Order: sequence, then structure tokens, then C-alpha cells
Amino acid sequence: MPTSLLAQVDSSVGGKTAVDLDSIKNIIGAFYEPDLVLIDSNTLNTLQQRDLVEGYGEIVKTAAMVGGAFWSLIETINSPADIMTHAEELSARSIQFKADVVMGDEKESGQRQLLNFGHTLGHTVEALADGGLRHGEAVSIGMVAIMQLFENNGDAQAGITDKLRDRLQAVGLPTTSPLLHLPAALDKVKNDKKNRHGHLNLVMIKTIGAPQIVSIPSAEIGSFLKLTAG
Ligand SMILES: NC(=O)c1ccc[n+]([C@@H]2O[C@H](COP(=O)([O-])OP(=O)(O)OC[C@H]3O[C@@H](n4cnc5c(N)ncnc54)[C@H](O)[C@@H]3O)[C@@H](O)[C@H]2O)c1
Repeated sequence: MPTSLLAQVDSSVGGKTAVDLDSIKNIIGAFYEPDLVLIDSNTLNTLQQRDLVEGYGEIVKTAAMVGGAFWSLIETINSPADIMTHAEELSARSIQFKADVVMGDEKESGQRQLLNFGHTLGHTVEALADGGLRHGEAVSIGMVAIMQLFENNGDAQAGITDKLRDRLQAVGLPTTSPLLHLPAALDKVKNDKKNRHGHLNLVMIKTIGAPQIVSIPSAEIGSFLKLTAG
């Protein structure tokens, strides 16, 4: 029975159960599916505003991939109060997408990797912040940072990063962090569990509603992400 917005829209569905080791996020874990998930949006009434808003970071992540009516709803949400008003629909739409993806690829060998949008740089700032950033805040920063790179490279539609940033800032989510410019950031990215067979798969939103997985050779990660080694 998830009682935070982040848990209602993301972590309660999908069966990923993991713990951090040292400062590496979710490095030890297992897939263990619940038999039933019960969500009551009324539990959000007692949540602190910061904890409500961070959960919305993961909602924007999902809506950017789904597009259509989901993204149109996001375009009407301009305050934490708006999140509360639409909490049930936001949860239902987020879970529907996540459940569809996970049922097709539980162990993340393919499409489930899409759910990692914003998480490579997100996990990096989350770890470097050492408890100073909520997960959804870090994902917000991670999505904007990675999309700015893809947009600057000409891979994603011009203006898409501003669109995303605008929706995140509308509810007060952070969208930048000086931590990403620390030399330690590159080490964190290299330790990310999403590195496989000499490649790191990143997620790009080409246009709203059109996500894709982009595979970068690990040796080129630093220059691609414009991160420097210490
Ligand atoms: N497994 C996954 O797929 C997945 C996905 C996203 C995030 N996560 C992980 O989930 C964790 C965050 O989970 P979370 O958001 O549930 O955090 P949390 O359990 O730390 O809850 C945040 C705070 O809100 C309080 N709280 C929760 N519900 C409340 C309520 N109804 N009223 C008042 N206070 C309430 C909690 O006591 C806590 O202090 C992070 O570690 C994140 O990395 C996992």
C-alpha cells in the first residue's frame, strides 16, 4: 500500500527491490512482484509538499514518453495543488504505462530500459547530493540535463528541453545541479548498473510521446555527457 506519490506512480509497480551499497544506487537487488497494490490518493493529503512534488517528477517522465492525452493533462498542471486535484488520474495513467512495459520485459533486457529516462544522470546527482536530493528531484535534473545534450546534438526536436523544463519548474522541481559538473560525476556514471557489455544505454525523447534507447560505447561516455574525469 504505497502512501507517497513516488511510490504510487512508480516504485510500487514493477517488482524491483534493491538497496544501495556505499554510494551506488540500487546495486544489490531482486525482482519480486507484489500480488496486489492498493493505492488511495487520500493518503497524499498528509504528505509534505516536497514529498508530493518529487513524485510528480516521475509522472512527468512517464507522460513525456506516452504523449497524447497524458501530456495534455501535464500541460494543465501548474502547482502542487493541481497535482492533488488530478492525483488519481495521474497515478492511473503512470501505472498503466509502467505495467504494460514491465509485463513485456520484466528483467529489463529491452523496452523496460525506457523507464530509466533521466535516471543515469539522475542517480549520479542523487548519490553526489548524499541525501540532499529526493529521488524525483534528481530525476527531474537528470531528464533536463540529458535532453539538453540530445537537443544540442540535433538528435531531439528543437525546443523539447524547454517544454520539459517548463513543466517541472511549474510545480517547483529543480532542473539543474552544480553536482553534475564535479569530476566525481563521471565515476558515478561509469558505475551505473545500466552499463552492459561495454555500452551504456541512455533514453532520449525525440518528440513528446516518442522515446528511444540510444546506446553509447562506455569508452565515449565522458565525452558524450561532457563530463570530465577527476
Ligand atoms: N523500485 C522502483 O522501481 C523504484 C522507482 C522509483 C523510486 N524508487 C525508490 O523509492 C524510494 C522512495 O520511496 P518513497 O517516495 O516512498 O520514499 P519514502 O518511503 O522515503 O517516503 C518519503 C517520506 O514521506 C513519508 N510519508 C510517506 N507517506 C506519507 C503520508 N501519506 N503522509 C505523511 N508522510 C508520508 C515517509 O515516512 C518519508 O519520510 C527511493 O529510494 C527511490 O530510489 C524505487
